[in-house]
Amino acid sequence: MNFREKLCWITGASSGIGKELSLLLAKEGARLILSGSNVDLLNSVRDECIMHTNYCTVIPFDLSNPLEVEKVANQTAAKHESIYLLINNGGISHRSLAMETPLSIDRRIMEVDYFSHVAITKAVIPKMVSAGEGHIAVTSSLAGKFGLHKRSAYSAAKHALQGFFETLRIELQPNNISVTIVYPGYINTPISIRAIDAKGNPTGKMDNAQLNGIPAKDCAIKYLKAIKRKQPNVIIAGKEKVMVFLKRFFPRIFFKLILRIRKPD
Ligand SMILES: NC(=O)c1ccc[n+]([C@@H]2O[C@H](COP(=O)([O-])OP(=O)(O)OC[C@H]3O[C@@H](n4cnc5c(N)ncnc54)[C@H](OP(=O)(O)O)[C@@H]3O)[C@@H](O)[C@H]2O)c1
Repeated sequence: MNFREKLCWITGASSGIGKELSLLLAKEGARLILSGSNVDLLNSVRDECIMHTNYCTVIPFDLSNPLEVEKVANQTAAKHESIYLLINNGGISHRSLAMETPLSIDRRIMEVDYFSHVAITKAVIPKMVSAGEGHIAVTSSLAGKFGLHKRSAYSAAKHALQGFFETLRIELQPNNISVTIVYPGYINTPISIRAIDAKGNPTGKMDNAQLNGIPAKDCAIKYLKAIKRKQPNVIIAGKEKVMVFLKRFFPRIFFKLILRIRKPD
């Protein structure tokens, strides 16, 4: 798969994994639409990308606002020719016990991490089908494979992605549209700093797991390779990926180990 001159739309492009994916695609000569909510950060990513590609536009919007997401997604799809590659990557996490998390926070996480991706994907599919080609990628998480302490809403949203996008893969296979679900483990990005508490405020703390995680650029290289190979699923993680295997084949050992990941704060 060659991305030269292909139109690619990346959400969560202002930071971390999405920023690195955008730079890699720009270096391949892809035409880019970059989305996020922080306009300054998006513009600085665009400034880097535009040195390598002849088209890079910024479309900022808030993934937590369903009306805005649907409007911008439909406008963006209508304005452009068919998107060749859509990367649904934007996301936030949280750090709060389920019993202390108000439903409004569960809904906010579901909007950003699940419904926004569904809405954007639905907006781009019709032109992809008409074009007879396309690829849709979505960033899940190892938390989309098993529940994790203080991540009930995040884990729920990431599990929901699997159900939606696995179904989409089956439905769109006759249209030559492939779907890749990416399950990162710990990646060195500011995601934990931006993760919200039960009051909806950012924790402002860099978790050790992320600090010592895989560099975002290395994650993006593996992510793009999986898309090019049209891999249905890919886990990009360090030794924590053993938990997926343990949950499936040795659930009791898995449970003993997952209890140790509980944090006091
Ligand atoms: N880092 C990890 O360890 C890890 C592990 C598993 C999965 N993931 C997943 O990887 C994806 C990318 O995260 P990252 O690690 O690269 O973290 P990051 O650096 O914090 O990037 C998150 C991106 O999502 C965007 N975003 C968040 N809330 C948004 C909103 N309401 N509206 C619009 N854009 C929003 C951010 O853009 P703005 O700041 O411009 O709003 C940013 O570009 C996420 O889906 C995350 O769940 C990360």
